[in-house]
Amino acid sequence: MRITDTSDLWWKNAVIYSLDVETYCDSNGDGVGDLPGLAQRIDYLAELGVTVLWLMPFYPSPDKDDGYDITDYYDVDPRLGTLGDMVEVIRTAHDRGIRVIADLVINHTSDEHPWFKEARKSKENPYRDWYVWRDTEPPDTSDKVVFPDQEDSIWEKDEKTGEWYLHNFYTFQPDLNIANPKVQDEIFKIIGFWTQMGIDGFRVDAVPFILETTGYSAEEKKSFGDPQQFLREVTSFLTRRTGDAILLGEVNVPYKDQHTFFGGDRGDGLTMQFDFIGMQSTYLALARQDCRPIVTSLAQRRKLPLARQTQWANFLRNHDELTLDKLTEKERQEVFAAFGPEEEMQVYGRGLKRRVPTMLDGDPRRIRMAYSLLFTLPGTPSIFYGEEIGMGEDLAQEGRMAVRTPMQWTSEENGGFSQAPASKLISPLPSGGYGPEHVNVADQRSDPDSMLSFLRQLIFRYRQHPELGWGQVDIVEQPDTSVLVHECRWDGSSVIAAHNFGPDGTTVSFRLDQAEPGSTLVDVFADEKCEVGEKGDVELVLEGYGYRWLRVQGPNDHRLY
Ligand code: GLC
Repeated sequence: MRITDTSDLWWKNAVIYSLDVETYCDSNGDGVGDLPGLAQRIDYLAELGVTVLWLMPFYPSPDKDDGYDITDYYDVDPRLGTLGDMVEVIRTAHDRGIRVIADLVINHTSDEHPWFKEARKSKENPYRDWYVWRDTEPPDTSDKVVFPDQEDSIWEKDEKTGEWYLHNFYTFQPDLNIANPKVQDEIFKIIGFWTQMGIDGFRVDAVPFILETTGYSAEEKKSFGDPQQFLREVTSFLTRRTGDAILLGEVNVPYKDQHTFFGGDRGDGLTMQFDFIGMQSTYLALARQDCRPIVTSLAQRRKLPLARQTQWANFLRNHDELTLDKLTEKERQEVFAAFGPEEEMQVYGRGLKRRVPTMLDGDPRRIRMAYSLLFTLPGTPSIFYGEEIGMGEDLAQEGRMAVRTPMQWTSEENGGFSQAPASKLISPLPSGGYGPEHVNVADQRSDPDSMLSFLRQLIFRYRQHPELGWGQVDIVEQPDTSVLVHECRWDGSSVIAAHNFGPDGTTVSFRLDQAEPGSTLVDVFADEKCEVGEKGDVELVLEGYGYRWLRVQGPNDHRLY
């Protein structure tokens, strides 16, 4: 193991935890989660074992898109606290060995941002070309909108000047003109500001849209050049300033295009990208109880010649709709039928507004198998707050807000999230079987069989086996399509993972061609071993929806785990 690998490329086997400060912990009883509340919970995160905290937007905002509509990049929303409180959070996290990354939303601002207010005053205003304008009636762009329930065009007419501005997302989120060197400089300044405050990197919002040159004039396109070059410059600036900060991109595009966003073979673009394709194929596999969709996506992913420092971030859930947009219509309908058959569970015609446990009918075996899979797929796992205790959603809430309900700390009123009267809370909490009386941190903390204890164990074991974060993955051939057996190999050692997508117990037989004669498979979670036969033959028993992680121990391997 090379020293520079494990100590410098820290993101390769990190565990990411994302949260929105306003729904995490309210310290002052006003019904809104805040930074001092979060600071008090850093020890909880340390106990869970996560190593990166991703903060969803915390900047001043009219909050029409849950903070993704920013009015000041250099401050903290006063409802959440102050810049001083933010520094306390960052410092406390660092003290407990947790890095902090912030959402970087630079595709657009809020229409209430002072830059846009200026820009729309007149065509001559110095801020005019900070945004993207057109003076002719736009064509029909209804097929390009991201939120089809609310928008029918990506252009909006500004009555005062009679021109249209570009907004790839909501009308109130005008796109910044990245081709403008002044905007570029401002972006560098924003990154410089937050890294100076101690931030360890960014989750970059909507990357393909940032680099999209729709609406730019021919001259602008020419001076901007290759949009990917801008991304490289951002990465280079960030690492010049900090050494080891990362850019984790939201890039929901086919794998071959993700290669470009990584900076191609050189890997000088984004450090990490979420694996949206892998996530969607996982749900298809779960719905079909057949692992082949994952085998296919892993094979495609493997073909990309990625640089050593780049990394995938794997996830089952994030704060948005669970998008199924990269599946075919037929596949999407299969997943809808299995995990969200009612219309109220679906959103934008392409996604689900449910969390994992409710989609999997609350079956603890299946839920645990899904998370075990997440932690063994090569890459860095990313979880959304509340997943560690198996929180559910509140379908009564509009769109994506269904999964953004307050963290459930205790069985008390408001789930221990806030002392405010329920009517003052930023969001109601779910009721029924997934309400805080049944699902909360306090009850699970000391229960060794709880979801929380299980997840803590997964995190610990994942960190202990760098093969999972770093390794090269191979699918281990065997005939049972309801079972995925894969091997993660790195630095001369290897871990085998087996997952049963079906409800029935089974025994799988396979051959480990590369195992040294006399090797043993040591179960990572149980005090069990299994011998590898002379020709590498293995027989493995799996329960219905069972999972196993097995370390391949050669005859001369005496490492302590
Ligand atoms: C990203 C965010 C989403 C937001 C959108 C616009 O997709 O994840 O929540 O609405 O960008 O900023």
